[in-house]
Amino acid sequence: MVRLHIEASLFLTTLALFNDASAKNCTRAMLQEAADSYVAAQAAGIYSNIKWLSNTVTYNENNKTADITKGILSQALVISHNRSTLDTTQCATYTELIIVDPKNPTVSGTQMRFNGSNITKIESIVTHKGDWAFNATTTLIYATPENWGIIPVEKRDTRATIQAAADAYLDLFNNASVVVPWGTPCARLEGGMYLNGNCDLGVPSGIPMTNRRYVIDETVGTVDVMLMLDGAPGMPDSHEYRIEGGKIRYVHTMSVNVTHPAGI
Ligand SMILES: *[C@@H]1O[C@H](CO)[C@@H](O)[C@H](O)[C@H]1NC(C)=O
Ligand SMILES: *[C@@H]1O[C@H](CO)[C@@H](O)[C@H](O)[C@H]1NC(C)=O
Ligand SMILES: *[C@@H]1O[C@H](CO)[C@@H](O)[C@H](O)[C@H]1NC(C)=O
Ligand SMILES: *[C@@H]1O[C@H](CO)[C@@H](O)[C@H](O)[C@H]1NC(C)=O
Ligand SMILES: *[C@@H]1O[C@H](CO)[C@@H](O)[C@H](O)[C@H]1NC(C)=O
Ligand SMILES: *[C@@H]1O[C@H](CO)[C@@H](O)[C@H](O)[C@H]1NC(C)=O
Ligand SMILES: *[C@@H]1O[C@H](CO)[C@@H](O)[C@H](O)[C@H]1NC(C)=O
Ligand SMILES: *[C@@H]1O[C@H](CO)[C@@H](O)[C@H](O)[C@H]1NC(C)=O
Repeated sequence: MVRLHIEASLFLTTLALFNDASAKNCTRAMLQEAADSYVAAQAAGIYSNIKWLSNTVTYNENNKTADITKGILSQALVISHNRSTLDTTQCATYTELIIVDPKNPTVSGTQMRFNGSNITKIESIVTHKGDWAFNATTTLIYATPENWGIIPVEKRDTRATIQAAADAYLDLFNNASVVVPWGTPCARLEGGMYLNGNCDLGVPSGIPMTNRRYVIDETVGTVDVMLMLDGAPGMPDSHEYRIEGGKIRYVHTMSVNVTHPAGI
């Protein structure tokens, strides 16, 4: 785990370095516009509706380099729920989508990263029937009443606190001694399964959660972590957290089962 932490911090340092040059005009307004354009692009099934999309964008779906013109963005989807978070430090966005339309029930998470004035990287975790605890209908039912709204400035946690809470939870899968800052109450929405009230119900053990990519939004106390849930063959995964007062309030997970065909 020590090695992983070093890798993660090198990764963040690298991101911080190259974003310094472009951070001047990376505003919340711009990121919101980019995220909204992404949601609209998915609703229309027209990827090129994404604003500031680099013509050399790197696109990744479920841990595979993919063709953005043929992936999920090529399908028009009736979106039941969308929620985006904005990271002005890294110049990145994260968007959660829930589609209950029986034609194509889908729950997805997407990170978009700017380099300079263009979006140069998009990574999505796209889950369907057959993925871990998948049920778009119940995901929507449980996610809807949750409060992921703005946190008053004086109550906001730092980026470091928000990330540390998420990292503690993820480290617990491979180190039973880690102390996780569980909130009271706390709810875990894993696929379409809801563990509501108390989150300290245990996690599997012996599972390293590697290759973590973060999008952090202090204004709403959130961090989305895309990662590889290890094992054989491993599950491409998104864990998103809402942190309040340094403690975990909500967790949303999407875990792809790569050993069976999508949607089966
Ligand atoms: C950056 O985005 C703008 C606006 O979408 C676009 O016109 C331009 O071609 C993009 N630049 C590159 C290098 O992709
Ligand atoms: C898939 O995940 C592995 C393990 O985290 C990582 O090393 C690899 O770069 C990923 N591949 C792609 C195409 O994202
Ligand atoms: C995304 O969610 C916002 C409310 O948060 C809503 O106003 C908007 O219409 C939604 N967009 C789509 C395409 O569903
Ligand atoms: C960002 O763009 C600069 C200039 O084109 C390039 O040197 C750098 O490698 C890019 N960084 C990433 C992470 O793509
Ligand atoms: C950032 O500023 C540069 C220089 O003013 C401009 O060319 C670019 O379009 C801006 N990027 C965005 C996404 O607004
Ligand atoms: C999803 O949950 C709903 C409500 O509990 C249930 O009616 C439905 O059969 C479930 N769908 C699947 C695909 O399991
Ligand atoms: C496990 O977590 C404990 C508590 O944070 C820490 O002291 C220990 O170094 C960790 N073990 C490993 C192997 O990372
Ligand atoms: C993944 O799907 C396969 C084939 O349907 C199934 O045997 C396996 O139990 C699933 N794994 C998980 C972690 O759900």
